[in-house]
Amino acid sequence: MIKVSAPGKLMLFGEHAVVHGKPCIVTSVNHRMSVEVEKRDDNKIVLTAPDVGVENHEVMINDLKNEQHRKECKFVFMAVGNFFEKYNIKSGLNIKTKSDFSSKVGFGSSSAVTVSMIKALSELFGINMTDRNIFDLSYKTVLDIQGVGSGFDVAAATYGGILFFKKAGEVIRKINVKDLPLIVGYTGVKADTPTLVREINEKKMKYPELIGPVFDLSEKKVILANRALEEGNLETLGELMNFSHGLLNAVGVSSGELEKLIFASRNAESLGAKLSGAGGGDCMITLAKSDNQEDVKRAIEEVGGIIIPVKTNVEGVRIES
Ligand code: PMV
Repeated sequence: MIKVSAPGKLMLFGEHAVVHGKPCIVTSVNHRMSVEVEKRDDNKIVLTAPDVGVENHEVMINDLKNEQHRKECKFVFMAVGNFFEKYNIKSGLNIKTKSDFSSKVGFGSSSAVTVSMIKALSELFGINMTDRNIFDLSYKTVLDIQGVGSGFDVAAATYGGILFFKKAGEVIRKINVKDLPLIVGYTGVKADTPTLVREINEKKMKYPELIGPVFDLSEKKVILANRALEEGNLETLGELMNFSHGLLNAVGVSSGELEKLIFASRNAESLGAKLSGAGGGDCMITLAKSDNQEDVKRAIEEVGGIIIPVKTNVEGVRIES
């Protein structure tokens, strides 16, 4: 029996633009997904995922990649299917997944479970995979299912830390960050990332002369944010968050709920605030000075936001036992 876990993520800067070739900055967070795997003597893959109501769901090896599986099982089965195909392996498996966080908050449970699964299989079958190999096979798995995505979430789950990242892992570089006292407010609204990514694709085709320069500005802002993170300059980071949110507003992915939480935090004199991820719901992030943290959190809660305590910059995928 092998147990592996991988962290969730939060996008800090550069969402959407990263899908179009610009860099972004993502942090891993201390909410993890874990998987336990053991071999079986037959041809069945049996999955239990209590957090999403899946109990002893059985699939035959040959159907791993073919069938229309339930949403909750798809990533696990596709990861196993891709791993078996790549390394020419066939074996029955018992798999159990467990999550520290709800799949609704947008912390990247799908990519974290995919990365955990690939790493666990490499251990179980004695295949030597580098982090790069794990990233590549996990990213392929996510694309096989979702069709779109930059892979930033897969990189955070694999490598951990805070990363400067370009689409498909063209660049994956750890940023040396001193401290990031991030506050996370959840709107209570589930966002659908692939739908929003497709909407922005269409908008970019309709208005290339508008969206193109917005993404160019996003790139410049990411480079400034990278420097501010290395210097521990929270004031600048806060201002860049506000700037970033303005660009995301320009492309139309914010929502009433996000705006409520963002303006509550700004009115409570946070250093800056923005949506995090695809938009349309999920979470906003904000930075506040240490003597103002509690006021900012209270202000977000007063307008209906849910504070999710997070630690950023944590370890990537790892073997637990
Ligand atoms: O909604 P999230 O937290 O999964 O973030 C999506 C970020 C996008 O840039 C919109 C998509 C992507 O794959 O990079």
